[in-house]
Amino acid sequence: MTEKRVDTVRLQNMAMGFWQSASLMAAVELGLFTAISKGAGNAAEIATILQITERNADRLATVCRTMDLLETADDGRYRNAADVEHFLVEGEPGYAGPWILFTKPRWEKFGNLTEFLRQSEEAVLGQYEGLTIEAARRMHEATYSVGMGAARRFVRQVDLSGHKKILDLGGGSGAYSITAAKTHPHINAVVFDLPPVAVVANEYIAEHGVEDRVTAVGGDFTADVLPEDCDIAIMASNLPLYSREIAAKVVRRACEALLPGGEMHLIGETLRDDRSGPVGPALWGLAEAINGSTGMAHTDADCIGYFEAAGFKNITVHEFIPGTLSRIVGTKPGG
Ligand SMILES: C[S@@+](CC[C@H](N)C(=O)[O-])C[C@H]1O[C@@H](n2cnc3c(N)ncnc32)[C@H](O)[C@@H]1O
Repeated sequence: MTEKRVDTVRLQNMAMGFWQSASLMAAVELGLFTAISKGAGNAAEIATILQITERNADRLATVCRTMDLLETADDGRYRNAADVEHFLVEGEPGYAGPWILFTKPRWEKFGNLTEFLRQSEEAVLGQYEGLTIEAARRMHEATYSVGMGAARRFVRQVDLSGHKKILDLGGGSGAYSITAAKTHPHINAVVFDLPPVAVVANEYIAEHGVEDRVTAVGGDFTADVLPEDCDIAIMASNLPLYSREIAAKVVRRACEALLPGGEMHLIGETLRDDRSGPVGPALWGLAEAINGSTGMAHTDADCIGYFEAAGFKNITVHEFIPGTLSRIVGTKPGG
């Protein structure tokens, strides 16, 4: 039997992975993809628009080409890959540049991950302890840029015709509630998020002109009294912020707060049950070591367990964004 020869290529690519992150972030910050969308097709043209040297334009574009962020047309000119054209061209409705830069403030801290992993102090709210309105505003510029797309997907996937009022737990910018209210004139919603975030959410709500039906209320969903007049709860993109115990407690509190017959949708970055992937949820869990919280990655089976323990019935798991987010649904008995 011949043994498969191993080499260092895979390991080396991982070790240099942060160079790839840096390249993507620099390309977004410099406006590379916007320039290419507007017609720049070679290093000289890119250099002129980005106001960098032609050599640096060549370096950056070459890396982006090898990462398949850029493609080359038959005439050799650069063009954006389809996802880049959709999400990374400034001024377009799908622009999600702030989301690509969302993790950049953690850059230095990830360089010291080893030290963070040696620490043992944990705070329930982790990175959100002492959150200011300004920091919440910066954070939710990023979540809004990607959250509106996710929210549109939610209202396409979930039939809201039989529901009246949404409890949007950790609703952030209010993207899900705003989109649901704009799509369904009969829907009301309450965004329940930490007090500084509620201020910011109310700004987005006013911007979209739905303040007559959507309100943001400040509170901590792990501890404070939740609104009790809602028949559907959404908790999106905050699962890895909490330990199994706290996540289970929040699902139980949501079940208790919902009206009988109400439905909960937990949209979360989940691992497969054998914990073999995907890597994204595992990384969000790891980042919580840096944030000093109890947070960690959860599997779909963990979430089903939280729903069962809370008393939900008819529990199902749906793929929400392939490879990234699952949507776990359960119904509160009664009604
Ligand atoms: C990544 S954002 C997701 C926002 C929104 N659900 C979305 O998908 O666009 C996570 C949100 O959870 C909120 N959050 C975290 N812990 C919370 C808590 N204990 N009580 C209330 N909100 C909380 C954060 O303030 C933040 O707005």
